[in-house]
Amino acid sequence: MLIRPRRRRANPGIRRLVRETSPSTNTLVQPLFVGETIQGREEIASMPGQYRWGISSLVEEVDRLSEAGVRNILLFGIPEKKDPLAAGAYDEEGVIQRAVRAVKKKHPDCFVITDVCLCEYTDHGHCGILRKEKVDNDATLPILEKIALSHARAGADMVAPSDMMDCRVRRIRGALDGAGFCEIPILSYSVKYASGFYSPFRGAADNSPAFGDRRSYQMDYHNKREALLEALLDIEEGADILMVKPAMNYLDILSLLREKTSLPLAAYSVSGEYSMVKAAAAAGFVDERRIACEMAIAAKRAGAGIYISYYAKELAGWLREEEEW
Ligand code: PBG
Repeated sequence: MLIRPRRRRANPGIRRLVRETSPSTNTLVQPLFVGETIQGREEIASMPGQYRWGISSLVEEVDRLSEAGVRNILLFGIPEKKDPLAAGAYDEEGVIQRAVRAVKKKHPDCFVITDVCLCEYTDHGHCGILRKEKVDNDATLPILEKIALSHARAGADMVAPSDMMDCRVRRIRGALDGAGFCEIPILSYSVKYASGFYSPFRGAADNSPAFGDRRSYQMDYHNKREALLEALLDIEEGADILMVKPAMNYLDILSLLREKTSLPLAAYSVSGEYSMVKAAAAAGFVDERRIACEMAIAAKRAGAGIYISYYAKELAGWLREEEEW
């Protein structure tokens, strides 16, 4: 037998040498929830091991993340009050704005990304402004501009719009540039599917739509060509990094975008992916560490440079050890 592929798997030395994908803690992003009314931390029932943080405990968690080697965080705010127009989302004294200032003060090197959306701040839970029970795309755009600007003013390093309104990247780019923030990049949730995998997050962030669902703005998971269209539009509108969300069931989309575009790509392994692994591991059905590492590497192999995951802190240690194996 001339060609024996198993020769290249025979021992750790040769396996290390021919390995095609290497993890890096540099590209891990930890999503964190910060609650306006919370003292200390509250565990999220649907996401064991994840918390809603009060602002000072959030800063302490960033201490631990930085110790673990995780340098990037993605912040979601849970405000005290909600209203139809999401005013809390762009309040200079809002929960995210205060959280960003507190984190950057203690950790100037922590790269802080903020989620730009209305759903945690609207009393109806939709990601945009409503007109007759429909989400009004164009009426939402000025609000998104205000949110992104307030985050930039608070010191965010990058803004990440997740609302899925058309043209929001262009409008946010314009607003940031107009205010002198031309160096703040936009990580666009370019390809965000309407997914059942967000349910645990909705328990965490209290952003379930009061009626209907998000299918008139988030993408239909039956579609793939449409993903490319969304990605190309975002590139035209000035996005700096493109995201695919969720990750695990959408590796074909990541792979397609990797082939067809040249921007950096991020994969968001969402709440449902995390909670499923946690639950299966707690039941003793799977090895949590093996599954979490496999998911992270799969996203990377499919084309994601950046990996956003609730496992980021744990992965930082695990992946380092995996690489040494
Ligand atoms: C808000 C937003 C959501 C997620 C990220 N940003 C929820 C949603 O669209 O309902 C989901 C993240 C996750 O499930 O981990 N627009």
